[in-house]
Amino acid sequence: MKFFIDTADVAEIKEARELGILDGVTTNPSLIKKSGRPFKDVAAEICKLVSGPVSLEVTAIDCEGMLKEAAELAGFGDNVVIKLPLIPEGLKACKRLTEQGVKTNVTLCFSPVQALLAAKAGASFISPFVGRLDDIGQDGMEIIPQIRQIYDNYGFDTEILVASIRNPVHVLDAALAGADVATIPFSVFKQLVHHPLTDKGLAQFLKDWKEVKA
Ligand code: E4P
Repeated sequence: MKFFIDTADVAEIKEARELGILDGVTTNPSLIKKSGRPFKDVAAEICKLVSGPVSLEVTAIDCEGMLKEAAELAGFGDNVVIKLPLIPEGLKACKRLTEQGVKTNVTLCFSPVQALLAAKAGASFISPFVGRLDDIGQDGMEIIPQIRQIYDNYGFDTEILVASIRNPVHVLDAALAGADVATIPFSVFKQLVHHPLTDKGLAQFLKDWKEVKA
């Protein structure tokens, strides 16, 4: 399973990269706004920092506008993945970009049928937003095994990129459901590695070792 970090904060990307298990980055307009930096600066820096896929999102809502933006975004690096909204114009743009050999990430997916449409349009990645479904009282994670089954039934190679992750249990459930990628906020990234019993056990080992050596 691949781990992407869901941020446009370069310091967070650098720290996650140090762990040696970071496979890519996802951004969106809200994350760019949160970074407080001009889009062009932050996009260029992220694409250099990470060799894996970096999702940069279009903001046009018509197919031609999306294609124009995609051409500009591709200029940031060979690892750019064009993020497109799951609306009819986004699907059209996805199909066109796929035909040109451009990698795409279809975002704002909230149902397995939407995910099926994105796969049929040739999306490289589909981003189902589990946390935002939880927020409205639906079990967001429920759709991940359903998408997995649909893709396996028909041999689609679109990668399932679980997005809008809020906690480590989302990462666990995504892995159990056979998702290809989880895009994880930095706060959750840090939570994944820590366990109180690991810290307690290590402290005890170090204490005992000091006594053996004394
Ligand atoms: C990533 O591709 C998505 O844009 C992101 O995970 C959305 O997360 P949010 O629901 O926490 O904003």
